Amino acid sequence: MKDRAALILAAGQGTRMKSQLPKVLHKVGGRAMLDWSIDLARKAGCERIITVVSAGSDRLQAHVTDVLGEDAFVIQDPPLGTGHAVMAAEDALQGFEGDLIVLYGDCPLIPEEAVSALFEELDRGADLGVLGFEAADPGAYGRLVEDGAGNLQRIVEAKEASPEELAITLCNSGVMAGSSKKMFALLSKVTNDNAKGEYYLTDLVSIARDEGSSCRAVRCDEEDVLGVNSRVELAEAEAVFQRKRRQALMHSGVTLIAPETVFFTFDTEIEEDVLIEPNVVFGPGVKVHSGATIRAFSHLEGAVVHSGAEIGPYARLRPGAEIGEQARIGNFVEVKNTAVGQGAKANHLAYLGDGAIGAGANIGAGTIFCNYDGFLKYKTVVGANAFVGSNSALVAPVSIGEGAYVGSGSVITQDVSPDALAIGRGRQTEKAGWADDFRTKKQAEKSSGK
Ligand code: UD1
Ligand code: CA
Repeated sequence: MKDRAALILAAGQGTRMKSQLPKVLHKVGGRAMLDWSIDLARKAGCERIITVVSAGSDRLQAHVTDVLGEDAFVIQDPPLGTGHAVMAAEDALQGFEGDLIVLYGDCPLIPEEAVSALFEELDRGADLGVLGFEAADPGAYGRLVEDGAGNLQRIVEAKEASPEELAITLCNSGVMAGSSKKMFALLSKVTNDNAKGEYYLTDLVSIARDEGSSCRAVRCDEEDVLGVNSRVELAEAEAVFQRKRRQALMHSGVTLIAPETVFFTFDTEIEEDVLIEPNVVFGPGVKVHSGATIRAFSHLEGAVVHSGAEIGPYARLRPGAEIGEQARIGNFVEVKNTAVGQGAKANHLAYLGDGAIGAGANIGAGTIFCNYDGFLKYKTVVGANAFVGSNSALVAPVSIGEGAYVGSGSVITQDVSPDALAIGRGRQTEKAGWADDFRTKKQAEKSSGK
């Protein structure tokens, strides 16, 4: 295989987003749009990935450096069109002999197969490959003009198109690939003599054809190349992502009772025979093992749920929650940075933060792990088979021994020995007849008008 490099165009201003955040850092499926393009480039085997950004885009530049390292962006200043954007990377790609693919930073849903198909077209001898799609409403997209033999002849922008060309429904996604050297050689011939006064990348096709080079279009679905320019389109892209992910999970053996009400992120991992009830949200970093049940209205992020466990309804698993096999986390229970052992139960109304709960332990309703003193966080350990009575506050750092009992309503500030009973609350006293005396006295006061 030839070496591959990717150029991700992201120097547009994204003004229609009306946002302080650079457009390509807005998220789809819990991941920045730019990171989707970077991931796609990596999956396609691109060793070098360069992002084209505008001047002054400090936040974007910092993000690119974080994700791809130093020297991973070039600045296009001022932005004078898509062809000009690619030219901005010419120095950075000096000496690169392989194939180059141009992607956009605002087009997050392109499947890996579409890009592989484009590279395969190059391997079969095409000099340039363009990813196209049949548009329901071609509107402002560039049109792909093919000859009878399926060769791409040129790309015409909507503003320059004749009525016949405007009637073409095969449109340009913007993704283009070819030999890097060849693309830069062709780019040197591109002018800005057009309706927008820009250097169009799309002009490479007709220039290549004039030189006798061959160009081919590869087709994908319109929703695969949905570009995001506004928050409305961002929500549309999100909807496409969610629908595809739900379908893929169902095909892989996950039951979704009401798929349209369950939300996933790019990295959600769910094994076979997991049942997910309606209205569940998965944030980033969740893995659910086979046979677990996630009941309605639960929210999970950064959590692992082991086989056969049951979560919810109305449970919240936060980062670092690890729920053991057959364990049970019930309604209004919040778990953060806590491992819950096999078969352990916290069925109602609890906060379990920065702890470890042994196998078979039972955490009563209203239990709070008091993990934070306003400055630092401390750990609560509950041993295997321990029983924590309802409405107990375990003030960390503290440890409850294996098999111990904690009496309901306790405030536990000291470690409890294995198999002991700890009670930390005021002792109950009883005053016989007190209530009757009280009522008699008060009634007398009221009647005498005092
Ligand atoms: C471009 C294509 C059009 C295609 C459409 C698909 C050209 C001339 N036209 O049109 O055929 O159907 O995309 O969405 O290529 N960018 C830069 N620097 C620039 C200009 C653009 O980095 O100077 C980036 C933008 O951030 C964006 C991408 O390139 O990510 C596309 O730019 P945009 O202006 O949206 O192109 P279109 O006019 O939509
Ligand atoms: Ca666009």
